[in-house]
This record gives sequence, structure tokens and C-alpha cells, in this order.
Amino acid sequence: KTKMTISDFKKFKQEGKKFSYVTAYDYTMASIINDSDVEIILVGDSLGMIMLGYKGTESVTMDDMIHHIRPVVKGAPNTWIVGDMPFGSYNVSDEEAVRNANRIIKETNCDCIKLEGGVEMLSRIQAIVRAGINVMGHIGLTPQTASSLGGFKVQGGTPESAKKLIEDAIALEKAGCFSIVLECVPSMVAKAVTEAVSIPILGIGAGPHVDCQVLVTQDMLGMYGDFKPKFVKQYAQIRKTMVEALNEFHRETLEGEFPSPEFSFNKEVDIPKLY
Ligand code: KIV
Ligand code: NA
Repeated sequence: KTKMTISDFKKFKQEGKKFSYVTAYDYTMASIINDSDVEIILVGDSLGMIMLGYKGTESVTMDDMIHHIRPVVKGAPNTWIVGDMPFGSYNVSDEEAVRNANRIIKETNCDCIKLEGGVEMLSRIQAIVRAGINVMGHIGLTPQTASSLGGFKVQGGTPESAKKLIEDAIALEKAGCFSIVLECVPSMVAKAVTEAVSIPILGIGAGPHVDCQVLVTQDMLGMYGDFKPKFVKQYAQIRKTMVEALNEFHRETLEGEFPSPEFSFNKEVDIPKLY
């Protein structure tokens, strides 16, 4: 596959061509996704939970993000790479937001940054776009500020909140975002948001009427424990496969079955008698 370009995003939407988007936080996973048809990788601050074992995303730092974005860029040269801006890296001022967005691009060479928020983030988005950096928006359920939204639950479920989402999407497009993640909203509302703008809406838990589907890789491959939001479809049971393989290794070790000569260095050596 060849890497998407910034103009492909609008073009795909105009042509009604769907695309797909998953997360990665390390070189090996990035290279696996690069071998697949999936067009976009997000190095999300969800790495707080999935890679670092935190309860949420709030404590993820700029250094954490850069540490994980770098190997993904190396592993997936034919895939568009999104670097998430962590909580606290863009909520102080436009200037600090630009400084941190610059750091992500300069120190990782990824293709764009993503940040959460609607109209309240307009000046941040405009400042980063003016600095020459591609910005992906993120509205609906915004995990960094989920507690102020009343927890991890469906957004846009009332006429007023649906209206706010549509206004947010239109404002983000005007501010210069080239695409927008829309998380955890009723399908009908996601459809309206998708129709309201000419940039692609990238849906996660947003139903079938959006331009692109997003899932966390560890969720969709069945790697990440027992927690499964309603919108996650597991396309494989990799965790089960991995535990079975580990147990097989353990059993063969105990029974002396591994390593057989096939997996051993079998050169004959004349060993001096020292003991
Ligand atoms: O960090 C993340 O994985 C995300 C997705 C849920 C879109 O922001
Ligand atoms: Na995120």
C-alpha cells in the first residue's frame, strides 16, 4: 500500500470511499499494521492504559508520547501516523500548545497531531494549523476530560448536545482540521455530523454512517483483558492464542521436549576434562 496524503482525506470523503484506522504504540505492532490494508495508525494516549497500566489517560506525558510515537513511525512507513497530544500539553495557552505540537512533529516525524475538544479549542487548533502542522480533531466522548462529561458514556444523546456536536464539527473544519474523530455517539447523530462537514469523520462507537472506522488494536484483536466496550468487535482472540502458546512452551520445558536438536547448536566439541 502507499501512504495516504493530506489531500486524500477530503478526496476519499468526496468519492464516498471508506477507510480504517487503528492504534499502535510500538515497532512490532506498527509493522504488522503496515503489512495490512489499514490506512491510518494512531499513537493514542490510550497507551496510558494499554502500555503503562494506568487507570486513565491523564498522567500520560509528552515524553511518554514521543517515546511511543517514534518506533511506530519507524515500523509503518506506508501508513499515515497520528500523534496524540496528551492531557496538559495544550490546555494552558496557544503558545504552549504550538510548542508541544512542534515537539511531537520534530522529534518523531509523524504526519499530524490530534487533540480533544470542540469550539473551546478553536484558538489552539488555529494556532497549530498556522504553525504548519496537520491537526486531527476529536469530539464526542473525550477521554482526557471524561470526568467532566459525567464519565465514559454516550455523548450527543439530546437535541441540544447533538446540536453542539454539529457546531463543534463545523467550527473545527473552519479552524483548519483535516479530519475529526467522533467518539461514542448515537449513529443518527454521527450521520448528521458526517453530513455537516466536508472533512472525514472518523468514528469510534459512532455507528456505520461515518467516513472511517476507528478501533484500538488491542481491543479488536482480543488482546486486552476482559474489558470490552459495546462498540468493540473482536476480530481475533489473540490473548487466548498467546496464553496457549506460553503454556505449551512451559509444558515442553518441564517435559524436556524443548529444545529438540532442531533448536540447539549440535556441533561436537572435544571438552577438556576439568571436573
Ligand atoms: O487514545 C486513543 O486511543 C484515542 C482513540 C480512542 C480515538 O484517542
Ligand atoms: Na486519545
